[in-house]
Formats: sequence, C-alpha cells, structure tokens
Amino acid sequence: MTVPDLLQNARWIEADWAGSPHAGAPAPVFSTTFTLDHDVSDAVLTWTCLGIAEVTLDGHPVHDGVFLPGWTDLRKRLRVMRIELDTLSAGTHTLEAIVGDGWAVGHVANQPRQQGADRVRFLARLCWAGGECVTDDTWRVRPSPIVQNDLIMGEIHDARLADASGPVRTAVLSNFQPPDLHLHTDPVVRRQETFEATECEQAGNQRVFDLGQNIAGRMRIKVRGLRGASVILRHAEMVNPDGSLYLENLRGAKATDVYTLSGNGDEEWEPSFTFHGFRYVSAESIGGDIELLSLTGVALYTDMARIGDFTCSHPLLNQLFHNIVWGQNGNFLEAPTDCPQRDERLGWTGDAQVFAPTAAFLRDVRGFFTKWLTDLRDSQRENGPVPCFAPDIGAFGLKADGGPAWADALILIPWYLYQAYGDLSFLADNYEAMVRYLDYLNREKVLDHIRAHPEKDDWGGFGDWLALDGSGNSFGNTPKDLIGTAFYARDAELMAAMADLLDKPKDAERWRNLHSDVRNAFQHRFLSPEGLPIGATQTSCVLALNFNLVSDAQRPGCVRELVRRIRKDGPKIGTGFVGTPYILQVLEDNGHLDLAYELLEREDFPSWLFPVTHGATTIWERWDGWHPGRGFQSPGMNSFNHYAYGAVGEWMIRSVAGLAPAEPGYRVIHFKPRPGGTLAEAGAELTTPYGRASIHWRKTDSGFEVDLQVPEGATGVLDLPDRDPEQLPSGSCHRLF
Ligand code: BGC
Repeated sequence: MTVPDLLQNARWIEADWAGSPHAGAPAPVFSTTFTLDHDVSDAVLTWTCLGIAEVTLDGHPVHDGVFLPGWTDLRKRLRVMRIELDTLSAGTHTLEAIVGDGWAVGHVANQPRQQGADRVRFLARLCWAGGECVTDDTWRVRPSPIVQNDLIMGEIHDARLADASGPVRTAVLSNFQPPDLHLHTDPVVRRQETFEATECEQAGNQRVFDLGQNIAGRMRIKVRGLRGASVILRHAEMVNPDGSLYLENLRGAKATDVYTLSGNGDEEWEPSFTFHGFRYVSAESIGGDIELLSLTGVALYTDMARIGDFTCSHPLLNQLFHNIVWGQNGNFLEAPTDCPQRDERLGWTGDAQVFAPTAAFLRDVRGFFTKWLTDLRDSQRENGPVPCFAPDIGAFGLKADGGPAWADALILIPWYLYQAYGDLSFLADNYEAMVRYLDYLNREKVLDHIRAHPEKDDWGGFGDWLALDGSGNSFGNTPKDLIGTAFYARDAELMAAMADLLDKPKDAERWRNLHSDVRNAFQHRFLSPEGLPIGATQTSCVLALNFNLVSDAQRPGCVRELVRRIRKDGPKIGTGFVGTPYILQVLEDNGHLDLAYELLEREDFPSWLFPVTHGATTIWERWDGWHPGRGFQSPGMNSFNHYAYGAVGEWMIRSVAGLAPAEPGYRVIHFKPRPGGTLAEAGAELTTPYGRASIHWRKTDSGFEVDLQVPEGATGVLDLPDRDPEQLPSGSCHRLF
C-alpha cells in the first residue's frame, strides 16, 4: 500500500491561531472520539504533521520517541508514522495529538519563526477491519497548557490550563499541499541517560544546579507550591567566575523553560517540544515559594546502539574519549548538528564528515546516516551543488555550494560507512548524486584541475575552519584552493574505488584519470620540488601527505616542514577542522609516532587535553573556547559541545588501541597498535557486523602482551612494530612478546 493509500480519506487539519514570526502560539490539541462495538485487534494508526507531535490514545502515548516525525527537508519530504496498536476494546476511545512547532514552524538556526509554515497541521487515519477514524472537520481543537514552545527558545507551560475547560472549537480543514510523504523507517529520537542535578550556587531566589555532564536534552522537575507560582529554568554550558550562568554563547537562543504550577500537590513536568545544550541549569521561582523536589537532566538523541569503546592507562585520555562520546550524544539528534546550544544546530556537512569515522565506531550510525544522507540528497540542487548543511534551511545567506571539505561529505561519508559496515548500499544509493556533484565542480568550480581557483570561485569555502594560524579570521591560513584541490583529488580517488565496487569500469577509468590530473596539478601549483607547500601551514602539509598528493621526491621535505611547524614554539597543534582529523595519522605514517603522542598527551593550550584539564565533559568548538588568561572566546561562536576535534577518536582507536577494518565491515580486522607516549596499556572493543572484536595490550616487565578477539566469520592480522604480521583466525588469543 502506498503512503497516500494508508492515509486515504484523512484531511489535513489546523487551528485558527498561528502566532507571528516573533511570537509563538499555544500548541493545539487535536482530538476526536470513536466508538467500537467489538474488540479490535488489527488497528493501525498512520499519522504525520507539520511540526512535531505527541499522539495519545485514551491518554496514553502511542510512541515512546520524541519530536516525531522528526526533521527532513520539507520542500521535498515529510515522514509518516505508522504503528500497529494493541487490542482496542469495545467502547468509546479518544485519540488526541498535541502538535508543537518543531523545525517546520519554530525558530531554526537564527531565523525567525514560520520559515516553513505559519502554523502546525495534523493528518491521521486510524483503521481496522471494517472501520476507520480519520482527521476531518468533525475533529475538535483546543489550546493546550503549552502556551509557547520552540526547539531553540524553550517552552512555557501553564499547568492551570490543564484542568480549565478551554475554548474547544472545530478543527479547520487545511488546504496545505504536503511534499512527498514517506513512511518513517529511521531511528527516532528518544530519552536516553538521565542526570540528577546537584546544587552548586545560590544567588537570591536563583539557584544554580550542575548535571556534571554537558548534554543535549532538557530538565524533568518535580515541584510543590502555590497555584500560579512559576519556576523559570535557564540552561547553560558553563558558569562565570561568580557562579552565574554563562549565557552569552547561546546568542539568540533563549533556552528558557517556564512551568506555572496548578497547585495540586506534587507536580512533575518535562517540556515536550524543546531541548537545550547545557550542563548547568538555574531555577528561579516567581509569584510564590516553590519547593524543588527533584531536578533531573534528560539526554535526548537519536537511537543508535553503542558498539565501540576505548580505554587506556592515561586517565585524561579516557576522559577525552568520554568527551568524544558525549560530543556525539549531544549532536546526533535527527541530523549531525554542529552544536546543540546556540541558535544554530544545523547539520553542517563539514563537521559531519570530519567526525563520521569516529561516530561509526562509537555507535551503530547506519540508520542515522542513511536518513541524513537522504536529507543531503534532498538538499542538493538539481545542477549538482551540495550545501554546507542539510536539511538546507537557507540560513546565513550562504552559497549553494558548501565548499571544500564541507560539500565533499556526500562522497566521504558513504565511503566511511562502507568501510565501517561493509554495506555497498551506502555507495550505490548516493553514487548518482556524487556524479552530479563532481560534474558540477568540474563545470563551475575548477580551472586547470585546481578547485576553488580564485579566478573561478570567488568564495572557496570555509578554509581550515578555526585553525589557530588564521590571522584574526576563522578560515585559517591554509590556501582555500589548496584545500579545495586536495579534497577534489580525494573525491576522484574515492569515486574510482566506488565505481569499481559498483561495477562501472568506464566511470572508474574516468575518475582515475581525473585523480591523476588533479594530483599532478596539485604538485605543480602547491608544492615546491622539495615538497614545501605554499603558505606552508600544518594543514597544507597534512593534506598533501594524507591524500598522497606528494611525489616520492617531495615527501621527505613535506614531512620535515610539518614537523618543523609543529615543533616551532611547541610542540603545538595548529590545525583547524580540516587538518585535525589526519594530523596524528600522518605523523605516524611518516616516522614521527613520538611527536603524534606528544601532541595527543599535551595538556597545555592548545591541545586536546587542555579542555579536559579544565573540566570539559564534551569537545569544545575551539581550541581556546576558554583560556585561563583570556577567559571565554568571542561569544559569537563559542560552543562547548562541537564534535569536530573529537575526530582524534579515530586515531586513538586505530593506532593507540590498534583496531581498524582491513577490509570493509571488519571482515578482516587490522590489529595494529602503535604503543607510545606514557601509555602502559590500551584497548578497544567493537561489535562489528560479525560480532565482537577486541584488543587489549599492556607493557610488561619483560616486554609486551596482547589479548585479542576475532569474531566468527572474520579474520585478523596482528601487526606489531618491528614484527612480521601474523594472520589470526576467529576466536580469542593471547600473545606474549
Ligand atoms: C558552525 C560550524 C560550521 C561552520 C562553517 C559554524 O557556525 O558551528 O561548525 O562548520 O560554521 O564554517
């Protein structure tokens, strides 16, 4: 049955109130009753909405997910929920939906409300053998106690309205023309971990609480007090030196929830249609004393099984790994967002590709990324450009082309997913869009095989975003055409490999030729014969080496330059979003494992461990988000929950612990630990498509020992420094050296 068939006879309904671009409106409750003259065991409910809804049957939620039906590119796609219900007994039943603004009607990024639609709408059909109940003009609508709701601004709930018999009207039939309707088969956002808040500061009637963990989510509170008194909850990631909330980095996001008490004994409340990025929460009572009986932080993110873990003998590195995990938890909510706190929260393509390999190890992200790659294709323009975020909501007046290292997510992420899970459909499903994208680059962005060529592209992308070498800007100093051409070469190389896998030999040849032309062009334009990149930043060297764009003769000079740059006043990392994911691997591959460990274990600014030594529980957007001498970075862009620099997780897993796929999906597992630094032991484990794989190594008085597990159906290769690789069958084994 097609989706329109599943919803046949149902009509879109709406309320006759809407709010304005700058003022929210009460979330409407749409409701109906229906009567069954016998028990029904085959009832199926199909529904969708413009907005996000909680649907209940006889007062019980029908789903346990939140923010349903989620976020898609509404110009192209709206998902439809379908659920088989438990037996309905004979008698009268009430079906209700309370619909919040969500991404369609509420604020998205820094834009006013109502970008997608002026008001929420609802469509549903409940059917069973011999009967149905569909949305139509017999449904009723009333304002709910949720006086205002917004994903970014917060929620205002007046519990006094729950028992007031507010004005009930007839729902209005809507002339809304939906985009294509698709059944929702993706993982949904759910309530995940909870954190009890502990009080850490009191200033007047404002009390500040700490969850101990920076999360994306919201508070569940239990309160007692006078009818009409309100508790105001404000959320922040950090506190100021005086203990008050640091709110400046939220920019336009109010991130404030208000609950007005009904006065009926103990009252428990959690907002329905909002979330915040926060670790600290302040509670302020107005209009009467309120007893705060409990405050619990509820983390929200898309359901993805946790599959991978890492541990080692260095407590700060373990905390770094924890922070990487929470960078993912806080940002994998419907789309891989840059951050969950400020008025942004967009599925930035650059950030996503940088972190994807680590993400695919930590959690089973197949469903999550299948959905988001669909968003990305939906947001790709017909003539080929891939945007810098998906769903593309058109914010910030950005170009259609996301630019180097951002738009390339369309090619890189399916490749990473194929490596992690061995599933060719990631390549097959996206290949046509990739071709359209590369054709666009060739046509509009490339001159003489140089991408982002200043004579062809007046923008060139985001550079090495937030690299510390940027003289006063966010782009870093690495030339944009160097970054562009490096990723263009990488795209062509991966396209050739994908075309081979998809059995497209002609295409493969085309991409191989392109790769070789671009590689040559790169060597001539950006590298001296001795291998010195122009504008030699750490990232220029890293890209040239990591994507193998240097000739054999150029390699030693390029490596020397990279090491010189890192050692200068350091050793210090100077890369931004683009160079950071590869820098340690490049050092390892080119004979500088010691320097890789020096960077990894460094605690002074700038380094991965610097935030950890200052209490971070997530990955910061900037190396200098906060600095002991300078305080907070500019609030215009200072998130404390941005996963990009967490891309180092991949190297920790692959080279510190020593676990990586040697063949897609870990059919052959490469156990290649490269012990170093101060580490006495390390290990990683992963539920691969074949089962559990693990490695744990430790230094002993006499040498080195390692425990390994190879799942059934897979094989392993144990590859230790200065030893011949050893083939391993499935099963567990222990080796002493
Ligand atoms: C976001 C990023 C993003 C960048 C693009 C920022 O505002 O937070 O993480 O990739 O813009 O340059």
